[in-house]
Amino acid sequence: FTVHTQTVSESCPSNIALIKYWGKYDSQIPANPSISYTLNHCKTNTSMEFLADEPFSVQTFLAGNEEVKFAEKIEKYFKNVERYLPWILKGKYIIRTENTFPHSSGIASSASGFGAIAKCLMKLDVEFSGNQSEEESLRKASFLARLGSGSACRSLYNGLVVWGTSDEIEGSSDLFAVKYPDAEIHDIFKKFNDWVLLIHEGQKSVSSTVGHGLMNTNPYAERRFQEARENFVPMKEILKSGDMERFIKLVEHEALTLHAMMMMSDPAFILMKTGTMEVINKVWDFRRETGLPLFFTLDAGANVHLLFPNNGAEDKIKTFIETELLQHTQKNGLVKDVMRF
Ligand code: PMV
Repeated sequence: FTVHTQTVSESCPSNIALIKYWGKYDSQIPANPSISYTLNHCKTNTSMEFLADEPFSVQTFLAGNEEVKFAEKIEKYFKNVERYLPWILKGKYIIRTENTFPHSSGIASSASGFGAIAKCLMKLDVEFSGNQSEEESLRKASFLARLGSGSACRSLYNGLVVWGTSDEIEGSSDLFAVKYPDAEIHDIFKKFNDWVLLIHEGQKSVSSTVGHGLMNTNPYAERRFQEARENFVPMKEILKSGDMERFIKLVEHEALTLHAMMMMSDPAFILMKTGTMEVINKVWDFRRETGLPLFFTLDAGANVHLLFPNNGAEDKIKTFIETELLQHTQKNGLVKDVMRF
């Protein structure tokens, strides 16, 4: 084949898990299935210039600034996926990438970042390997994204997305993500508000790679993996029936379990901050007092995702967040910023 020099561009959103992936086996196989919402407003835009016939190398720019560390990571990743894309090491890459959300926001930029890179690679793959159906190409992009960052494989699809083999989800796989069937989702869960409260900026004390690894020696890990698998049974019923109360209970339980696993690791670590606890307690107080469906989930970090449906109460909930919750927590510096999606 003839390989030409060319540039491809792609964009990919981030996602937030409802049933969490925490713990994995070799070659990015999850220890349990997970399900997430894709965050359409938080995207990474990536352009990839491929210079054919140059020696293999990778240069990366993040929001216009050259990032050598990121380039090293991508180089390693490309070598790792060569067995699936045999042409990949036959040229030089200049990759320019930018996020539509602050880099330090704690929104998973590795998910949208690797999602966008995998989509760019699949565009190049069409040149080298010929056309594939859109379905096939998306599946392969999800497969490739997984090898960069596990949760990234869920970012290839909109809405609710499952990664990891589950008896409850037809077609689910450890190797790529699948879209949760739309017909099985009550309207109330189809569109959600997700406001992210920025509580801690900058580097986390323990990376998610190290965190996943610590599940290997965590005495509670097996029970946790089993529980996550079991949680797909109620999750399926809830998504179908629209039972908000059970949804809230399950989603918050998943978030707290993720952080409980960190506390039970050896060495133990805690990524929540004072602001995280303050916000959680305020959300619980608000729910107790009003009965309105405002709840939270957490990623592997201190920031809080505030979730609430569009069920007629959203204006009241937004007013509570803007006034009572944010005024108090921003004044004393516990919440640094808020992203309203
Ligand atoms: O994709 P990773 O390796 O960064 O792991 C992310 C894991 C969580 O965000 C904590 C949970 C999840 O399922 O996304």
